[in-house]
Amino acid sequence: MPTMHQNLRIPGPTPIPDEVREAQSAPMIDHRGTEFGEMLREIGSGICELIGTAHEVLLLTGSGTGAMEAAIVNTLSAGDRVLSVSIGSFGDRFARIAEAYGAAVDRLEVEWGLAADPAELAHMLAARDPYRAVLLTHNETSTGVANPLRELVAVVRAAPGDPLVLVDGISGLGAMPFETDAWGIDLVVSASQKAWMASPGIAIAAVGERARTAEATARMPRYYWGFVEARRWAEKGQTPWTPAISVLYGLRVGVRRLRAEGREATWARHQAVAAGAQAGLEALGLRLVAPAGHRSPTVTAAWLPDGLEWPPFNADMRSRGLVVAGGQDKLAGRILRFGHMGMVEPADLAEAVRVMGETLRDHGHAVDPSAAAEASMTAAGATVEGVATAR
Ligand SMILES: Cc1ncc(COP(=O)(O)O)c(C=O)c1O
Repeated sequence: MPTMHQNLRIPGPTPIPDEVREAQSAPMIDHRGTEFGEMLREIGSGICELIGTAHEVLLLTGSGTGAMEAAIVNTLSAGDRVLSVSIGSFGDRFARIAEAYGAAVDRLEVEWGLAADPAELAHMLAARDPYRAVLLTHNETSTGVANPLRELVAVVRAAPGDPLVLVDGISGLGAMPFETDAWGIDLVVSASQKAWMASPGIAIAAVGERARTAEATARMPRYYWGFVEARRWAEKGQTPWTPAISVLYGLRVGVRRLRAEGREATWARHQAVAAGAQAGLEALGLRLVAPAGHRSPTVTAAWLPDGLEWPPFNADMRSRGLVVAGGQDKLAGRILRFGHMGMVEPADLAEAVRVMGETLRDHGHAVDPSAAAEASMTAAGATVEGVATAR
């Protein structure tokens, strides 16, 4: 247990509502009983509604990476030509999973901090032999960049060979606009510890018609992650293996809360909080990693100022109760990342900005923490008003 109140501002696991925490401590039930079946169906149909699919959502016990692996092994065969569009660390992971199972992976590598360009993708798809699948990341958590997913998917769906569209939606689903069927996405994955407001442990896979058809010919080895078994048991309201029941208790509450708030309201709240995070960090003199127009509504990344060393700065923020993420892979020690998905309000970010400002000041940077916190609140409020007027 944390010894003091923490403002947990990492991009997952996210803070969980008390209601979720209480639900997660309920007694165990029989995972082959009717009560469990009702819970599984309620969560699955709730997620279908929230992400705009009339097809199936499979709930798998594991982390998001497990669902990425499941997406690959259930739809592809060794030797299949796959194009991976990578804009950061998690895009690279998707490509490496496909390679680990023998896919012939080409990469469209985008400079970290930028979004993928649909025109560049169209050019590449037109210039090469057809691909069996294209791997896309919706929201790249390592850089705080949101891809123009709808446009990217449209390009893939118009490409020769009609490639499958496999999407890592792990850190965006539930928090930002997403229409699985209408946008033409064949398979998208997420995980319980992100905008869904539950603890880590449940992976989510929404499987469309074309992905399901692909399963019949896909030859990559699979056992634990096999969708055929998951589906066969889901039809009976069960999972093939013992599931993370406690996490499902929490996820059920998270999904209920999101449905009660309403998709558009949830998306607008995340947009407002993100505007607050961006304004607050900029008021502290930090430069944002993502360009305007491609900034993520769920995670904001900023460059560390020259001369600021991440380990002592991070330790100091943590000693004041603020927990922020650092950079990953080649961005380690160069950026910081604010997570703001799930249970989050503008005031949480403004408070985080204030504490970060005080820490920066104590590390020799001339900043005004209170003014930055105020700028954060103002920007979030202006965004809320803007969204309300636009409706
Ligand atoms: C975009 C993205 N993809 C994949 C993952 C991996 O998920 P997990 O850590 O649950 O395996 C994450 C987790 O941070 C993520 O944000």
